[in-house]
Amino acid sequence: SRSINLAVIPGDGIGQEVVAEGLKVLSAVLPQDVKLETKEYDFGAQRYHATGETLTDADLDALKRHDAILLGAIGDPSVPSGVLERGFLLKLRFAFDHHVNLRPSKLLPGVATPLAGQPEIDFVVVREGTEGPYTGNGGTIRKGTEHEVATEVSVNTAFGVERVVRDAFARAQARPRKKLTLVHKNNVLTFAGHLWTNVFNKVAEEFPEVTTDYIHVDAATIYLVTQPERFDVIVTDNLFGDIITDLAAAVSGGIGVAASGNINPSGAFPSMFEPVHGSAPDIAGQGKADPSATVLSVALLLRHLGHDAEAARIEDAVSADLAERAGLPARSTSEIGDALAVRVAG
Ligand code: IPM
Ligand code: MN
Repeated sequence: SRSINLAVIPGDGIGQEVVAEGLKVLSAVLPQDVKLETKEYDFGAQRYHATGETLTDADLDALKRHDAILLGAIGDPSVPSGVLERGFLLKLRFAFDHHVNLRPSKLLPGVATPLAGQPEIDFVVVREGTEGPYTGNGGTIRKGTEHEVATEVSVNTAFGVERVVRDAFARAQARPRKKLTLVHKNNVLTFAGHLWTNVFNKVAEEFPEVTTDYIHVDAATIYLVTQPERFDVIVTDNLFGDIITDLAAAVSGGIGVAASGNINPSGAFPSMFEPVHGSAPDIAGQGKADPSATVLSVALLLRHLGHDAEAARIEDAVSADLAERAGLPARSTSEIGDALAVRVAG
């Protein structure tokens, strides 16, 4: 479409700084005839302290009217652990049914990796985003006693698993290598694991061109380090996906470049794009954060909205910028944003 109505949530800590650069690059890359409208929302720690609110129904109604959401980071040490995570981020992902949590990993030329050599890393993790152990089903009994029992139930529905597996097959089908790996733990999680495996094998019949593979999540952490080139598309459960995408980020350039999309493929609700990194309160306000992960999240946002050429221009700009970085003095957050804005415009 020829206009983008964007909700902007800078959030806490470095979220403020990196989102400013993301918007700078977005404005620079869009052609004249694409009208960009943005509205900023003040979610995060400050609003929580001032009002006790994290994300209200009225907020959700307002956010619903946008084409997409750009999020920086939410989280601050002044707020007890879990309050903003559950009350804002997970609430939003669940309310807008962001069941495809898309996390690409690509090791770009010249980017440092802790792995030996310069392995080919170019895969994307499709992490389920609305189920698994994240649903908040569980409880505690005999709390505080030495006999306390805590359960955290993993919820897996045939509907939820099938739609994310199908999405992952379609993404694999569209990539040159056409390979999809299911990552789970079906040797131990025999209920959820068998549901995932059965659904995976059933949907595979509809995608005969896609090569399939299954790996237990523990083994997957080994292969991500020793043979990352074996992966093309990975589909996995919410918690496994959370863990392996941090590892994936670590081996492919670090969280300074790790982008993500919380996607509702149906378009029934706006999708949300955010860097994988958090609010990093230790370096907030110092201009030290790398905005590349946010800028790459803007590229995912553009691709989701059908602006493929602009998305590719951003990815090329980040790639060129990273390739030239080695040996140069460190730049500030806004200097990197300025350089990327020049590249995408030129
Ligand atoms: C992520 C984060 C979140 C998650 C937390 C902050 C709720 O770690 O986006 O990966 O676990 O999904
Ligand atoms: Mn995480």
